[in-house]
Amino acid sequence: MSRLLSLPDPQALSIRAKALVFEDPASQALLAKVERVAASDATVLITGETGTGKELIARHVHTSSGRQGPFLAVNCGAFSDTMIEAELFGHEAGAYTGATQARAGWFEAANQGTLFLDEVGDLPMSMQVKLLRVLQERQVVRLGSRKSTAIDVRLVAATNVDLARAVEAGHFRRDLFYRLNIASLHLPPLAQRPLDILALAHHFIAIYAQRLGLSNVRLSQAAQAQLLAHHWPGNIRELENVIHCALIVGKGAEIQADALSLRGAIAPAPALPEGPVAVAASAPASSSQDGADGTALLRQSLRLLFEQGPAELFTHVERELVTAAYEACHFNQVHTSELLGISRNVLRTHLKRFGLLSERGVRRLHIDANGHAAPAKAWPI
Ligand SMILES: Nc1ncnc2c1ncn2[C@@H]1O[C@H](COP(=O)(O)OP(=O)(O)OP(=O)(O)O)[C@@H](O)[C@H]1O
Ligand SMILES: [Mg+2]
Repeated sequence: MSRLLSLPDPQALSIRAKALVFEDPASQALLAKVERVAASDATVLITGETGTGKELIARHVHTSSGRQGPFLAVNCGAFSDTMIEAELFGHEAGAYTGATQARAGWFEAANQGTLFLDEVGDLPMSMQVKLLRVLQERQVVRLGSRKSTAIDVRLVAATNVDLARAVEAGHFRRDLFYRLNIASLHLPPLAQRPLDILALAHHFIAIYAQRLGLSNVRLSQAAQAQLLAHHWPGNIRELENVIHCALIVGKGAEIQADALSLRGAIAPAPALPEGPVAVAASAPASSSQDGADGTALLRQSLRLLFEQGPAELFTHVERELVTAAYEACHFNQVHTSELLGISRNVLRTHLKRFGLLSERGVRRLHIDANGHAAPAKAWPI
């Protein structure tokens, strides 16, 4: 039996989905586990590739938990190393230059509710130890204060990097990993839950057709076959974008295969067994397979670019380098900065410069006791 699950007050959610689709047996098993886990107060670690629905599942854990406080989502990669402590734990007036008034952090703000720490693998080591202490003691101390405040917060963390491997590679504290991983929910890639593909496609058609003023839109047989055959490196988000785009470019009531822009899909980022070091180490191995040397290939590409003469060549090359490294590291800032051999702060400057941080910024969503969500607010990053 398939399950379509309605989320409360969908109009006010910052994300687009009105409901969660669970058609494939793998997804239904996951949903059953989510509902079991939600009932407890256990900290939850949600893992899965980009676009598999981690944030939606985090919200579902909160709404199914019966907790009366808000659901707050914070992206750990969105703050500089110096700001993150004040953001999470709050600060007193005068705690640092510019802190004119005292302010509660995310933990205090999420009291009696759920705090969703997205991209938890991006937390700097210095913060990991502080987070561990908060989880153990269930109290926070604002920056610049000596007083601790008791908190009743359910923590849900998510990551699209393999934290167990990050632990082995020395990028993530083992004790914090165990503390976060009390209940784990793994979201399989879309390609491993094939029965979800068409169900989700129809779900997105219904949403976007209504928004575009279209009615009775169908998928041709060939389009269905193409959707089923695609490997979906961007998972559900990619499928959503493909359907939205097909509805915009398609003509008539039937979506044809050629309206699906699947060819331009980005190849899946390579798995990072031991963080960026492994990428660097694996490069010569793969290049020796095809007999090519990375630097020689790069020089060849550069010569081609010199001939083509794109505008602002230097910036163009920088953007390509930063983007490719960020994708290869599954958008993990710590790993990317190590791969590139630059500090995380310098990396963040480049990510902002190239617009790679904006979409992954901080989102704060407040769900009140009646399950109503306040309008999302984008925070400057
Ligand atoms: N089961 C589902 N049913 C309907 N829509 C879904 C489902 N899962 C995910 N989506 C949609 O797919 C998109 C990606 O979901 P979400 O943002 O939760 O993924 P994510 O795993 O957090 O991605 P990332 O790692 O890139 O942050 C969203 O637009 C969401 O609405
Ligand atoms: Mg997410």
